Amino acid sequence: MSDIAEIKIDGKVYEFPIITGTEGEKSIDISKLRELTGHITLDLGYKNTGSTKSAITFLDGEKGILKYRGYPIEQLAEKSNFLEVAYLLIYGDLPTEEQIVTFQSKITKQTLIHEDMKKFLDGYPSRAHPMAQLASLVCSLSSFYPESINANSSPEAMDHTIIKLLAKLPTIVSFIYKKGLGHPLIYPKNKFDYVSNYLHMTFGQRTEEVEIDPVVVKAMNTLLILHADHEQNCSASTVRMVGSSDCNLFASVSAGIDALWGPLHGGANQAVIEMLETIKEDGGDTEKWINKAKDKNDPFRMMGFGHRVYKNFDPRAKIIKKACDDILDKLGINDPVLEIAKKLEEAALSDPYFVERKLYPNVDFYSGIIYRALGFPTDMFTVLFALGRLPGWIAQWKEMHTNKEPIGRPRQVYVGHTNREFVEIEQR
Ligand code: CMC
Repeated sequence: MSDIAEIKIDGKVYEFPIITGTEGEKSIDISKLRELTGHITLDLGYKNTGSTKSAITFLDGEKGILKYRGYPIEQLAEKSNFLEVAYLLIYGDLPTEEQIVTFQSKITKQTLIHEDMKKFLDGYPSRAHPMAQLASLVCSLSSFYPESINANSSPEAMDHTIIKLLAKLPTIVSFIYKKGLGHPLIYPKNKFDYVSNYLHMTFGQRTEEVEIDPVVVKAMNTLLILHADHEQNCSASTVRMVGSSDCNLFASVSAGIDALWGPLHGGANQAVIEMLETIKEDGGDTEKWINKAKDKNDPFRMMGFGHRVYKNFDPRAKIIKKACDDILDKLGINDPVLEIAKKLEEAALSDPYFVERKLYPNVDFYSGIIYRALGFPTDMFTVLFALGRLPGWIAQWKEMHTNKEPIGRPRQVYVGHTNREFVEIEQR
């Protein structure tokens, strides 16, 4: 097989190296394209553009494969826990017993947030969306830890910032939730593991300690693992892009949180439940809504369906669908929207519109039903996605910095006016 690609422009042939990844993915290295030919590439939405070489996550959308650092997502979801997966993503290997104990203990010592941060919570309007609060609180961490602002400090200092962010995010997320309810905030407890501590701060009471159900702990671990990374998606690319200006980790992740919020990305989990509720209230006629999704004159899209990369099935959705059945069963919950979701999925999977466009349920289709069963309000769903995605964002930011990648700065094809003469306002 050739390791050279040729591009012919105006009769002249230019050669570019073909780079092959460890899983056999092929790319044409066009880094010298403009220098040699005077041309740039145009690829809206970066559908064919590799923005980096990464050793973190591999996914094959045609075959429905997802691996973190070489480990299949199915094995990690079944056998691992979220903290172990976070370590794997950030440091590259599964931890030894000693490494995970040290990691957990470093995190446990950093779970409190500065008391002054609670004043921000007091300042938000009562109906403020939790994602708006999350993004600003995470960015604000850089004001409490000014030593984190130098993104090029020592590896030890970088690691300290990473630990702080991992440790403080569950506290911030649960404080946002409690504040939304108007309930007193519950502080972290060192005796708990990462996920149990988060559940304690979220569902605990000040007066008595609630029992943390192992079924719920397992479900949360599974959900967080499935969301932990997804290579160069919109929010991870944002984190890398913002970080490439040597912006600190807190601010870069805050930008990633903003990118995640949109309903075409992580915000889809909230949008799915809202859609299922609307369909239920409308009488549950799934065919009507499938037809709406197919109608090009109707802006309605089937939320939780389709994916930029997966064109076969989303392996995360397979695991989540099963987890959803198991959890609802174990918790004895009968959620009518689950039936609507299943009917929609069944109908869509045999409909030529969805089949031809390879539109399958994605990770967000069933995750909201689980979050709801666990007792979370709808507007917290995307925040939970962010909690899961944090190790991925950190790993992407760290890789980009460690590899000393250049500042992200795409070019454009300008299609605006060329020269125009300025005209005084009274003559326009
Ligand atoms: N409902 C109806 N039609 C759809 C849908 C949908 N959910 N998704 C794509 N299509 C159609 C689209 O109209 C287009 O049709 P045509 O070729 O006739 O113009 C075709 O399928 C290709 O769609 P696209 O918008 O060009 O694909 P994309 O890769 O740019 O967008 C997507 C991917 C995920 C943004 C899109 O499928 C979508 O909007 N899905 C709903 C939102 C959603 O569930 N997002 C969560 C993604 S998974 C979580 C995450 O990691 O972010």
